Amino acid sequence: MAEESAIHGAVGGDGPFFDLVEEFYRRVESNSSLRRLYPVDLEPGKLHLGWFLIQRFGGPDYFSQRRGAPRLRMRHAPFEIGHALRDAWIVCMREALDAIAAFAEHRDVMMAYFDHSATFLINHEEPAPGRMRLPNT
Ligand code: HEM
Repeated sequence: MAEESAIHGAVGGDGPFFDLVEEFYRRVESNSSLRRLYPVDLEPGKLHLGWFLIQRFGGPDYFSQRRGAPRLRMRHAPFEIGHALRDAWIVCMREALDAIAAFAEHRDVMMAYFDHSATFLINHEEPAPGRMRLPNT
């Protein structure tokens, strides 16, 4: 099991990361609560996520070169991300990761990172299901 920064080299370069992004976006497309956040044209976002993941897991800094500092919280501020959406994103990413054989021995390290970073992007509290918000009396 490689450390985060050794994963790009261990899987043989960029290819598996772009495969991962394709698998991930395929799942986003069939999840209506996620899909509605994304623009009609998914291609630019795929490229950005691919660049980001390559950079994050030890490859060239494509993302910073083309998009500047990652600042993911700021970049996700336009989207209302609560726990349910965070979990939906994580399920898509976990299934995508499991679909790419090259990542088999890195999935736990990568999922730990995704779990942590997706939680950090939550910017909206939703009431617990089945509970009503009571007025302050
Ligand atoms: C927590 C649930 C998340 C939701 C609902 C979400 C949603 C989105 C959306 C709607 C976009 C815009 C796509 C576009 O404009 O084409 C985006 C961009 C992006 N997301 Fe997420 N995201 C989530 C978590 C994450 C996580 C955990 C990461 C990193 C591991 C991440 C990395 C990125 C990157 C790198 C971009 C492209 C930013 C740019 O270049 O402007 N996202 N995300």
